[in-house]
Amino acid sequence: MAKRKLLREIAARVYGEKYADKFWKRIEIIGDIAVIRRPFGVTVEELQPLAEELLRRLPYVRSVWTTWSPVEGDYRLREFVYLAGEERSETLYREHGCVFRVDIRRVYISPRLSYEHMRVARLIRPGEVVINMYAGAGLFSVIAACHAKPWIVYSIDINPYAYRYMVENVLLNKVSRQVVPLLGDAARLVPERLRGIADRILMPLPEYALEHLPAALEGLRRRRGILHIYLHIDTPRGVDPRRAAAETVEARLRGLGYRAHVSFTRVVRTVGPRKSQVVVDVEVAPENA
Ligand SMILES: C[S@@+](CC[C@H](N)C(=O)[O-])C[C@H]1O[C@@H](n2cnc3c(N)ncnc32)[C@H](O)[C@@H]1O
Repeated sequence: MAKRKLLREIAARVYGEKYADKFWKRIEIIGDIAVIRRPFGVTVEELQPLAEELLRRLPYVRSVWTTWSPVEGDYRLREFVYLAGEERSETLYREHGCVFRVDIRRVYISPRLSYEHMRVARLIRPGEVVINMYAGAGLFSVIAACHAKPWIVYSIDINPYAYRYMVENVLLNKVSRQVVPLLGDAARLVPERLRGIADRILMPLPEYALEHLPAALEGLRRRRGILHIYLHIDTPRGVDPRRAAAETVEARLRGLGYRAHVSFTRVVRTVGPRKSQVVVDVEVAPENA
């Protein structure tokens, strides 16, 4: 049975047909851990039967947790509450043929970025120098190294746990010749240590992408290259999020003295009522060149 159908059936068995949709779409499987993104107003006790049913019906699930806070802070982490199975938050997560050790309580991880990881990897041309400014446990970087032929991917994160897992994931996937993990603030590291070297820069952190744009631009070789910028865009009725994101990026780059050619936009996911995460791929060059 397809995974979505099975998750819906499990939720329907616990809460009935009427409420199944409120729950099943909020279940994420990360390795052998199931995470239920807690619906607003639902208690831990109310989630317990769903956790037990997930353990019973999905033999590959060993541990079930629920989220207790939104994603917050510089490390983009959530608080979790343990529900059932093994009380363990570290797991091995597989994506696009690569394997990642992660602790859901210590490092940002989202299977909902899976499509983006591969989409970006496919755009990388042989020999490119890539900077991933907000690498987390290294998913974009490792998948790029496994599926494309970059010369090197500098892979930065400010969270020491993310860095530690990234180092391990680089070794696990045997890409230590291509991926260089770096611990620190990308807004400082790029201008100070990676100036003028990159063909392509990934900025998968909507909260800071625009603010850190000047730092990213310093990383580009001859001030030209491709940026992948992830943004949160408010979308009041009638606003096209992709267009709004492209216009925001173009205006910001113009203000910094760059010409911008937006080659692609995509709504990655909805992140709130009338709020979307959008990726903008943009080719930049100095205005006066
Ligand atoms: C949305 S997560 C990245 C997800 C990751 N790229 C993936 O595909 O799984 C954002 C990451 O940026 C890191 N971060 C936040 N501020 C940063 C900064 N100034 N410099 C470098 N990393 C930063 C956080 O620790 C977090 O791991």
